[in-house]
Amino acid sequence: MLYNEMNENDFKLFRDYIYDKSGINYTINKKIILQNRIRRRLRELNMDSYRDYYELIKNKKMDDLELINFFNEVTTNETSFFRHEKQFLALKEMIIPEILEMKKKIGSNTINIWSAAASMGKEAYTIAMVLSEMQELQKFNYKILGTDLNSSVLDIARIGKYELKDFKYVPIEYKKYYDEDHAKGIIAIREELKRNIKFQRFNLMDKFNFIERMDIIFCRNVFIYFNKNTQKEIVEKFYKNLNPGGFFILGHSETLNGVSEDFIYRKLNNENLMIYQKEEK
Ligand SMILES: C[S@@+](CC[C@H](N)C(=O)[O-])C[C@H]1O[C@@H](n2cnc3c(N)ncnc32)[C@H](O)[C@@H]1O
Repeated sequence: MLYNEMNENDFKLFRDYIYDKSGINYTINKKIILQNRIRRRLRELNMDSYRDYYELIKNKKMDDLELINFFNEVTTNETSFFRHEKQFLALKEMIIPEILEMKKKIGSNTINIWSAAASMGKEAYTIAMVLSEMQELQKFNYKILGTDLNSSVLDIARIGKYELKDFKYVPIEYKKYYDEDHAKGIIAIREELKRNIKFQRFNLMDKFNFIERMDIIFCRNVFIYFNKNTQKEIVEKFYKNLNPGGFFILGHSETLNGVSEDFIYRKLNNENLMIYQKEEK
């Protein structure tokens, strides 16, 4: 089937719809990207009109299969192991030791961590490798929740199998947490890491109804898709969901400047690592 270019009006309909449901802000310079992503749904459904497809999805609920497929197409899921690696040094040298100190005061030793835009799970498994290695020297437990709007990346995360090349920047000391199959070119995360992590579909635009508060929230490289108002709304929810003294971590190019003044900005070795902390009180 030959597809026409998406016209300006249809672009605006989809742009507003995506923004309303997910906070993702498709600016006009991303029109072709959006058009090509929506085309994949049209092709799959044997449709040829963007407007008809819009009519089909516009009143659907977020857990409807077609909307799940739609958001699987329109999200951008780039990720890697040990992305912004200095943040993981800070996790090991500053964040975990401080949290364990705070936990000691309240007689607990379980750390709750949330990878809030988890994509294919590489961030969550990176955290798990660092923490499991620390467990060899200190007694504590950890649980990681990995969430994302895109259900297909979460399927990959749950399976925990990746290509060999994805592990290029994983330091050698973490080799004990995965198995390499060179014939197939695949690396499989070991069960001992996987059992600490749960992946579930979650939209950051929704109410946060989690039973337990978090000690550390990684929310990296997703604010770049949101405007300031959306960032403000979501950060307020994160703040409420963090334990006192808990940490909030953004991506390299993201900031809470102009978004929230509730957090203390933390540095390690005087470096800017986009790590924030809720006051301990
Ligand atoms: C670029 S990836 C970042 C992955 C990882 N945090 C990292 O830094 O490597 C952004 C992720 O945010 C997810 N996302 C976008 N909007 C979302 C929303 N409203 N709720 C939950 N996840 C969302 C996307 O599906 C995508 O997997």
